[in-house]
Amino acid sequence: MKYLILSSVGFLLFLGSCINPQQKESTSGIDQKVDSLLSIMTLEEKIGQLNLPSAGDVSTGISTNTGIAKSIKEGKVGGLFNINGLDKIRAVQKVAVEESRLGIPLIIAKDVIHGYKTIFPIPFGLSASWDMDLIQQSARIAAEEASADGIAWTFSPMTDISRDPRWGRVSEGSGEDPYLGGQIAAAMVRGYQGDDLSAENTLLACVKHFALYGASEAGRDYNTVDMSRLRMYNDYFPPYKAAVDAGVGTVMASFNEVDGIPATGNKWLMTNVLREEWGFDGFVVSDYTGVSEMIAHGMGDLQEVSAMALKAGVEMDMVSEGFLTTLKKSVDEGKVSVETIDNACRLILKAKFQLGLFDDPYKYMDEERAAKELFSDENRAVARKIASESMVLLKNEAEALPIKKEAKIALIGPLANNKENMVGTWSVSAVISKSISIYDGMKEVSANPENIQYAKGSNLVEDPDLEERISMFGKNTYRDDRPEAEMINEAVELANESDIVVAILGEASESSGESSSRTDISIPDNQVRLLKALKETGKKVVVVLLSGRPLVLGEILPHSDAILNAWFPGSEAGLALADVLYGDVNPSGKLTMTYPQNVGQIPIYYSHKNTGRPLEGEWFQKFKSNYLDVSNEPQFPFGFGLSYTQFKYDNLKLSSNSLSKDSTINVTVEVSNTGDRDGKEVVQLYMRDLVGTITRPVKELIGFEKIELKAGETKTVEFSISEKDLAFYHQDMSFYAEPGDFKVFVGSSSDDVLESDLELK
Ligand code: BGC
Repeated sequence: MKYLILSSVGFLLFLGSCINPQQKESTSGIDQKVDSLLSIMTLEEKIGQLNLPSAGDVSTGISTNTGIAKSIKEGKVGGLFNINGLDKIRAVQKVAVEESRLGIPLIIAKDVIHGYKTIFPIPFGLSASWDMDLIQQSARIAAEEASADGIAWTFSPMTDISRDPRWGRVSEGSGEDPYLGGQIAAAMVRGYQGDDLSAENTLLACVKHFALYGASEAGRDYNTVDMSRLRMYNDYFPPYKAAVDAGVGTVMASFNEVDGIPATGNKWLMTNVLREEWGFDGFVVSDYTGVSEMIAHGMGDLQEVSAMALKAGVEMDMVSEGFLTTLKKSVDEGKVSVETIDNACRLILKAKFQLGLFDDPYKYMDEERAAKELFSDENRAVARKIASESMVLLKNEAEALPIKKEAKIALIGPLANNKENMVGTWSVSAVISKSISIYDGMKEVSANPENIQYAKGSNLVEDPDLEERISMFGKNTYRDDRPEAEMINEAVELANESDIVVAILGEASESSGESSSRTDISIPDNQVRLLKALKETGKKVVVVLLSGRPLVLGEILPHSDAILNAWFPGSEAGLALADVLYGDVNPSGKLTMTYPQNVGQIPIYYSHKNTGRPLEGEWFQKFKSNYLDVSNEPQFPFGFGLSYTQFKYDNLKLSSNSLSKDSTINVTVEVSNTGDRDGKEVVQLYMRDLVGTITRPVKELIGFEKIELKAGETKTVEFSISEKDLAFYHQDMSFYAEPGDFKVFVGSSSDDVLESDLELK
């Protein structure tokens, strides 16, 4: 109680003086401070800390009369997001620190998803690089930039496994595989948080959307999810758990239900799994209006769902204001205990102490660092490199690629001369005017800018209403009102005068991402007509795909000589793409999601189970598990990606074909670059458990290594396997490997492997 006599600023100084800012503070030291602070807070102030509104009406030079300033002053706001610019952030922090009773600093959040000002490829593209160092570096740079510009907390990484490319948000994740997804989640957490959360250039990370959001029925966003616990634990949980194991500070609840209860109100998920089984000790935030959305889910009124969320283990309420407006009443009515509110508030205050906000509430507002580091040449150079490393070469016949820098190129396509769409979805802080269009990038890297001639060729889609929906949020696609034939003719004329055609096809940036699910993921008909006309000129046609998801490519495969999937490459899009098209960078990306032949095959993924009637041998066989109209094969398998050189795998060897429980065996394979260019290859290690007490997938990724090989060079790649690599969750959720026979596979994709036998004793 002695603190009550201190002014709020005095209180902060008192708390701050207890530690040397150069040192990381001990957990027990922080716990004591949190308890001291809690002891002088009113119930309303504690509930206020659990409230995370979107900044809304904040304008520069915030007056204390704006709605949000008033709420902050009254201690009703724990954090803010969707607030841009150092002036505004400084202003709201000042209100919190100087005008609220206790002066508790706000935690400022933002969706820093794949870069801040310097934008890297969309996360799905990043995952295709299979390069954990580069992925970690992209998160590090994002943290350095954002933390100079007022941000303390990012709502990333998104680690939702998805096996349904209709779902638009596959663009924000790392694809279909739990092991790869876990490696990427951990790399991103390391990148954002570094090893010192209290440093001024690290961000608090938030793994999302917990849990299972990527399994929404029919790929429709926010839709129902229903799956067995075995599938949750073995296939969908691992990346969230990997983020927790890597020390992620916060978790975001997903919109969907899990086992019949919305994640936001699901105690089993948020408490039993997350905290008790996995040992998570940070705080959980709801997703945007996730708390009040439980009303529509049929869980009760705002008071009921708010109490339910808090009691389940969600500490912070994003946007709904259900906690703010109903929790006091629930306490008065005996429906929520003060202790539950104390526990929630404790975790949020703890994070603020860990970040060092009580020592310096303005620590993330560094004009000097912002001026120097945001969108710096160094950061842009890294973005260019990562973007080129993430591109996946799907087809390359008659050596259409790489293109000589002297070649005259007809650059065609609805987004070939567009800046807005290059950065992809969830790039809310991007400096769009400075992103490099494909046209500009190609001109810069070619031997002579005159070599690149551009024509739009077609609109993105025929239907103007659809185009309007996918160019919302400032990502203009600049629809052309000319008749289709006129646009195609112009493009064909240009093709006739050129040595080679580069056609930029696919999706717009906002065709994927949140609330951007599609039932038809093939290339739109008008783009196919353009492509056919270009191919009829007899020139070689290279297709570059912009996409935020796997697309159905059957219609364009016969009309292209090469296909390069470039995703949405980020700020340096045009340059990175030119680096690959001209061969300055040899493509080395590999798919992280299976490409279906058509939408009817969805869900399709490499690590499927066998049925009792698997199709072995040729398609079609009556009374086997297959379709009448299309084979079971994907268009392109998980892990697939070509290079301008060729790789050969030989001599797969196991140091022993039997493994005992506490030992390790080594797996070696020789990989040779048999072509005439240097290149990189992602060497992939899979296994299959042949007999189990529950059914096991036909193949599971358990390791990978990206190596660099000079032309003609051979390297021996070594992996190790121990029992834990063979383990899985059983019906009672115990996790161990079962003795018995396994297959070990190593290769260049999930369906191009050498194999050997292994027995676990
Ligand atoms: C999304 C989250 C995001 C949040 C805050 C929601 O609509 O689902 O991924 O972090 O908004 O912007």
